Amino acid sequence: MKKTLIRPTSLSPNSSTPLVSPIIQSNVYVTKDPSTLDKIYNGELNGYTYAREKHPNAEILARRINILENSKNGFITSSGMSAISAVLLSLCRSGEHVIAGDQLYGRTSRLLQEDLPRLGIKTTFVDTTDYKKVQESITKKTRIVIIELISNPTLRISDIIKISKICKKNKIMLVVDNTFTTPLSIKPLDLGADIIIHSITKLLSGHSDVTLGYFSTNHSKIFNRIYDFAVTTGLTPSPFECWLAERGLNTFEIRFHKCQENAEKLAVWLQKRPEVINVIYPKLNNHPDKKIFKTLFNGNSCNMVSFELRGNRSVANKFAKNANQISFAPTLGDVGTTLSHPASSSHRSLSKAQRKKMGITEGFFRVSVGLEDIEDLKNEFKKGLKDL
Ligand SMILES: Cc1ncc(COP(=O)(O)O)c(C=O)c1O
Repeated sequence: MKKTLIRPTSLSPNSSTPLVSPIIQSNVYVTKDPSTLDKIYNGELNGYTYAREKHPNAEILARRINILENSKNGFITSSGMSAISAVLLSLCRSGEHVIAGDQLYGRTSRLLQEDLPRLGIKTTFVDTTDYKKVQESITKKTRIVIIELISNPTLRISDIIKISKICKKNKIMLVVDNTFTTPLSIKPLDLGADIIIHSITKLLSGHSDVTLGYFSTNHSKIFNRIYDFAVTTGLTPSPFECWLAERGLNTFEIRFHKCQENAEKLAVWLQKRPEVINVIYPKLNNHPDKKIFKTLFNGNSCNMVSFELRGNRSVANKFAKNANQISFAPTLGDVGTTLSHPASSSHRSLSKAQRKKMGITEGFFRVSVGLEDIEDLKNEFKKGLKDL
């Protein structure tokens, strides 16, 4: 080997393969000649060209989520928000109209409210738990309906089957953000969604050390359009993040089952506490959408519990400080339980009256339940509720 050649060879050939996916950090790929490169670009040969277009670690991760979601085509993006942006910005034209759930993740609502109008795209926000409101809001210009199946943080459920029928009848694309619900509870593509989105950042990767997203659709033309937009605008992920997410995904199923089991137990326990005036969890008998929930969710649920304390901000501060072993952090899906206070975080931009209408008071908390021993968790909550 000449010392002057900087990249002369790759690994020597060998007869074994690594058990774990290697991290392939290279941002560019070497091909034999221009014709081979041409064939890769045209999709006639498998291969990679440039990491922003696609790379092995993203492909491995996408393939695994495709299996969970019964999807033919999925693509990894640099965050959940980049997946949402790629879908909306690649598919909507100026003059078109979107119908969106009125309790979507805050940044999704912001994108629809603040950014898309500058491009001439208007949104009507409706309570999608009442599917008739979706029907009533359709105009000739409606292109997309975007929903989350369990709303955040009030955990109301939208009937995907009824909404997808309305969308099909009116030739409108149904986009479902399946982050909260996950493919273990529900597979939106099987129930009539055209496109699904994930923030892999949350339950799928599960360790709060990754920021990634995913979109998927079985319509190949639509897939190509969103893919091209994501690649052109650089909404694509790094190999290392994808590798970490793949590692987290290995335990997703077992984590999800344990977390939702803990969530149900915590919800039942919270209901009995005098300091708590309301508990929201889809499996509880008082949940307003219990019937749709039973039909749609295969006996599964989610790891999120919301509850309301009797009292104002000072009571909320005291609870968060007292329960100091539970991380007070505005996220969800971590291996550990995290607590969030929508009035001071995700819903802070709404007026007090708007929050009140949604049931989000100063005493309202959302819990993303983790893998702890349930008795330890109850003890920590007991500590939090003491002397409120
Ligand atoms: C339901 C939902 N969708 C999308 C997002 C955005 O995901 P990311 O933070 O990965 O951009 C979030 C983030 O909290 C979310 O909760």
